[in-house]
Amino acid sequence: MAEFQLHEDRIRKNLELIADVAAAADVRIILALKAFAYWPAFPIFAEYLTGATASSLNEATLIQRHFGKAPHVYAPVYVPEEFDQVLSLAGHLTFNSLTELERYRPQWEDSSVSVGLRVNPEYSPVATDLYNPASPRGRLGETLPNLPTKPPPGLKGLHVHTLCESTAAQTATLIERIKAQFGHYLGQLEWLNLGGGHLMTKAGYDVDELVRTLRQLRERYPNLEVILEPGSAMLWNTGTLNARVLDIVNNYGTQTLMLDVSFTCHMPDTLEMPYRPEIRGASTTEDPTYPYAYRLGGMSCLAGDYLAEYYFRQPVRPGDTLIFEDMAHYTTVKTTMFNGVPHPDIVLLDADGEELHRRSFSYQDYEARMG
Ligand SMILES: Cc1ncc(COP(=O)(O)O)c(C=O)c1O
Repeated sequence: MAEFQLHEDRIRKNLELIADVAAAADVRIILALKAFAYWPAFPIFAEYLTGATASSLNEATLIQRHFGKAPHVYAPVYVPEEFDQVLSLAGHLTFNSLTELERYRPQWEDSSVSVGLRVNPEYSPVATDLYNPASPRGRLGETLPNLPTKPPPGLKGLHVHTLCESTAAQTATLIERIKAQFGHYLGQLEWLNLGGGHLMTKAGYDVDELVRTLRQLRERYPNLEVILEPGSAMLWNTGTLNARVLDIVNNYGTQTLMLDVSFTCHMPDTLEMPYRPEIRGASTTEDPTYPYAYRLGGMSCLAGDYLAEYYFRQPVRPGDTLIFEDMAHYTTVKTTMFNGVPHPDIVLLDADGEELHRRSFSYQDYEARMG
């Protein structure tokens, strides 16, 4: 069976670095559940982090039940029937628009929740439209021309999310942009959430520059608690998706490895972005030392459920395992059961390879979604 293998020691290494940044820069760094929701591992995260952030009632409930901290919540839109429940769970709650802020004012004004507004600074280093949250006509957050000159009564924070796998220099540019556009608000608020996308655990990331930049921000606005909510950085390079080769289809010389995983069901970013995941021992580009070329085929019926050629040193055979690198963040949460394709198992391993926890998915999981 295909399985996600998550490594506890690598997760701890990332979390140690992140906790050090939080302490050195005097900021709060919390886990974005959209990137990782395998809750049996939450106790590890809770040792290093002060909280987590949710973007739906389900995520908020998961945080409350398994993280043991009041969630920060931001959703692009709230469902009226769910709002009171979200409010009762949240410690911080961010609205995506001024209309939602006012629509729900009667509920939140009498609560103890700290309310924020997402703003769009119209700056993002992300080139792919699908992943760019800061396009001027986008739907995520209010742009500057929409804001009243003074913060609406009761507003405690601003929320900005426009980075993705970004550098410290890009965080610095984002902060300058926020100061230029929303500086007139910042002096009057209690917190600023700089969203996710701060990839501080990637090799070569300039952690010192990030700490310096955040400290300068704290000094400029001592009234503001600064919050970062990365997901990818916490899980960067902490897990793989291991797939078996079940068959090989050959049409007009194109050989396709038929795997027990699916790109559309299990790795949708590889088709949507699209991006090419690393495969252990294989080359993503043509290379004379990797003479064996294969497409990688998924198990769903979607015609496009495949990745273009990868190159191997030796012929691949049914029964071989392909190891997709760096699959812990987003991939584990984005899996679907389209076509009745089962989820890969998720297994948490300690440094000696001993299993700490395994989740297997059965027919009952599939059936329960529909009836
Ligand atoms: C509002 C918000 N916060 C945090 C994140 C986490 O970003 P990342 O996993 O890139 O750090 C995202 C990702 O889409 C997001 O939309």
